[in-house]
Formats: sequence, structure tokens, C-alpha cells
Amino acid sequence: MSFDLGTYTRRVRPVEVAGLDFAAFERQPLAEADLRCIRYMHDVEFHTSCYLRDLLNTSAHADPEVSTFLTMWNYEEHWHGEALASVLAAHGEQGGEMRITAMRDRLRRRMRTSPLMWMGISAATRHFLAIHMTVGAINEWTTQAGYARLAARAGHPVLSELLRRIMRQEGLHIDFYRSRASALLDRSPKAQRATRLVLRYVWRPVGAGVMPTSEVRHVVGHLFADAEGRAVAARIDRRIDRLPGLAGLGLMRRTVRRYGPLPASTVLS
Ligand SMILES: [Fe+2]
Ligand SMILES: [Fe+2]
Repeated sequence: MSFDLGTYTRRVRPVEVAGLDFAAFERQPLAEADLRCIRYMHDVEFHTSCYLRDLLNTSAHADPEVSTFLTMWNYEEHWHGEALASVLAAHGEQGGEMRITAMRDRLRRRMRTSPLMWMGISAATRHFLAIHMTVGAINEWTTQAGYARLAARAGHPVLSELLRRIMRQEGLHIDFYRSRASALLDRSPKAQRATRLVLRYVWRPVGAGVMPTSEVRHVVGHLFADAEGRAVAARIDRRIDRLPGLAGLGLMRRTVRRYGPLPASTVLS
């Protein structure tokens, strides 16, 4: 399916929170394990602007459609962070600027060098855009699936409705990245090989580069390690398989194995 960038650009807006009864969380709060996922998602959504800063230093910036999309995408992701901050606030927790400032303090050294690292990666391959679009599609697939799994696990009507609205916007992000990735990979076996290499040896799940490993483990374990979660992970792997030249990577299967809960025998020994 092709993506109509003009229509998307005209329709971009903050995720709708009107009519959502956030006070319901005071009467029926989320379980700690679910709230811990919300904190992770809040931090990662707000980190999009830092990721955008790095991306705009790469060859992706040469493509005006990509830079237009990224501008709109960053705006929508910002509002996902704001909506999740409202969920935290309803639980008596600070979200927004307080958490963002703490996160950027923690990542200060890394953020000083990350633009150089991204410029280096972009300069090292002519296939950066194919890699970027493919990683974008996979990250949006996993994000959308993570929200769906969290809604199912939490079983909270207000959270489910908020996440449904966020997921609809993530669906548009998927459409852009997937259609561009598909086209770029389709026309170049070299782009396929470069992308396979990055996915196999460099890619990590959304947030793993900036969040503590304990939190990555919690989110992957809580959302993707049970039977339903593994089925969702397998579905994402099948979607990746259908991208030109990317069959058989088993990316999500390996992610659940790497970050999911340790086997009981390991824990006991
Ligand atoms: Fe988002
Ligand atoms: Fe997204």
C-alpha cells in the first residue's frame, strides 16, 4: 500500500484525549508492572526528538519526503508522551519535563557524541535510507504491538481507549516506513544485504539504547514472553520476513530470548 504524505501532513494532530476520564485511574489504578511499562513508553516517546536530531544529521535529510514525514512523526510522538504523562499524573507521579530532564542528564555523555556516531554510520553506507526506513518500520510494529499487549494485560477501559487512539497513529507511521523500506529494498540486493547485517548485529528493541537494561527486560518480559506475547512477536517476525530480502531473521524471537525472563533453572541456581 502506498502512503499519501500530503494527506498525512494535513491530518497530523495531537492524539485525542478529550472524553478520556483520567480520574478513573485514581479509583482503579494500574498494577505496578503495567505502570512500569507506561514509564518506559513515556520516556521513549519523549526521546523521539533526540532521535530526530541524530537522524537529521544523516543522508536521510537529503530526501524531502522523509524530512517532512519525520517532522510530523516527531510531533505525534511528542503528544503520545504527553498523553502517557497524564496517565502517570493520575497515579500521583511526575511525568513530562521532570522525567525528560532526568533522562537527558543520565544520557548526557551519550547525547554529546550520538550525532557524530549517526553521521558516521550514514557516511559509511550508500544504503542508509533503506536501513533507516526498515528499522523505522520494525520499531513502529513493535511499539504498536507493545501498546496492544499492554492494553490486554492491564484490562483498564480508559487505558485501552487511550492506547487504541495512539496505536491508530502508530499505524500511519508503520505505513510510511514500511512502504518506503519495501521500495528501497526491492530495487537493491546490496541494500538488502546491508539492512540484514544491521538488523542481525546492531538492531535492538525500541528504547534499549537509552533505557536501563532492567527496564528493557521488564517490558519485553511483561508484554512478549507469555504465550500471547510470543504469538504477537512471531507475527512481527512474519511481517519482517515479507520485506524484500529479509526473510528468516527471527528478530523478535531472538529479542524475547535475549531480554525476556530468565529460565526458572537459571534463577534458582
Ligand atoms: Fe508513539
Ligand atoms: Fe510511532
